[in-house]
Amino acid sequence: MADTAIPMTAADATLRMRVQAIAGAAPDVLAIELRACDGQPLPAFTAGAHINVRTGSGIVRSYSLLNSQDERDRYVIGVYRDPDSRGGSRWLHEQLAAGDVLEVDPPRNDFALCESAGHSVLIAGGIGVTPILSMVRRLQAIGRSWQVAYAVRSRSRAAFLEPLRELAAAEAGRLQLHVDEEEGGRFLDLASLVARAPPGTHFYSCGPGPMLEAYKRATASLPPQQVHLEYFGAGVAPAAGGFVVVLAKSGRKVPVSAGTSILAALGAAGVYVPRVCEQGVCGTCETKVLAGVPDHRDLFLTTAEQAAGKTMLICCSGSLTDELVLDL
Ligand code: FES
Repeated sequence: MADTAIPMTAADATLRMRVQAIAGAAPDVLAIELRACDGQPLPAFTAGAHINVRTGSGIVRSYSLLNSQDERDRYVIGVYRDPDSRGGSRWLHEQLAAGDVLEVDPPRNDFALCESAGHSVLIAGGIGVTPILSMVRRLQAIGRSWQVAYAVRSRSRAAFLEPLRELAAAEAGRLQLHVDEEEGGRFLDLASLVARAPPGTHFYSCGPGPMLEAYKRATASLPPQQVHLEYFGAGVAPAAGGFVVVLAKSGRKVPVSAGTSILAALGAAGVYVPRVCEQGVCGTCETKVLAGVPDHRDLFLTTAEQAAGKTMLICCSGSLTDELVLDL
């Protein structure tokens, strides 16, 4: 950790949680219910929050909570079996059983709802439906106006569709299911979805990278405070053209080529920085930034910490400037 690390407090303490139930939610998706081993009420969370789970393979992965924020006795997550899994989701799918105990970090929320919005449009792609489901539960509970567009490749892969349908049942048009293969392979038309929304609408999207890039284009002209998004897995920042990292303690310069993480470039140059998840989740590689502007892609820093730009997660984040000076 960088020397800006905040001392652990009771609220930060790792939770020991027992797997209460595991159920299939779609062919490649498990719904996993976790409860505190000590039976105490869990730390509160707000809709859109995620937890970091340490899997038995030692890999830390981040999963959004899909249950109601009013529940203090359980966290429920949806785990997609990533075909490129390096052991995180694969371990959870193949090894985890009811009764097992997992270590979990308390919830954090980088994808919070604006509860005062007159109308909210929530757009989910694939397993990105999990935070959206929790957000819809909340909007419904507080009586706000909302609609959801849920895009999946095939109908059988639409995890958690039934609870969404139940929430949407009271009002026609609240839920749009877009099945790519039933639409001739066409993707959800985000531009018209945004154009049809009333002024002042807040938009939320969680899904795969290409969907979020389309979402950013569709919402580019809106005030930024009305546009919210979350990647469902951090990725290496596109460092178009490359950039240079300067190691302040030695003055050494390490080039980072396009598509390579800073962590990997440093490793290739013989500079070792501790890491655990390599996905911007655990915070182990947090590094102090002395000059330059990071391109944050992690799920660990808060929005305010990212905006301050004083530290960055070098396993996944890149640079918006030609040079980054790091406290290494
Ligand atoms: Fe986990 Fe970078 S190694 S956040």
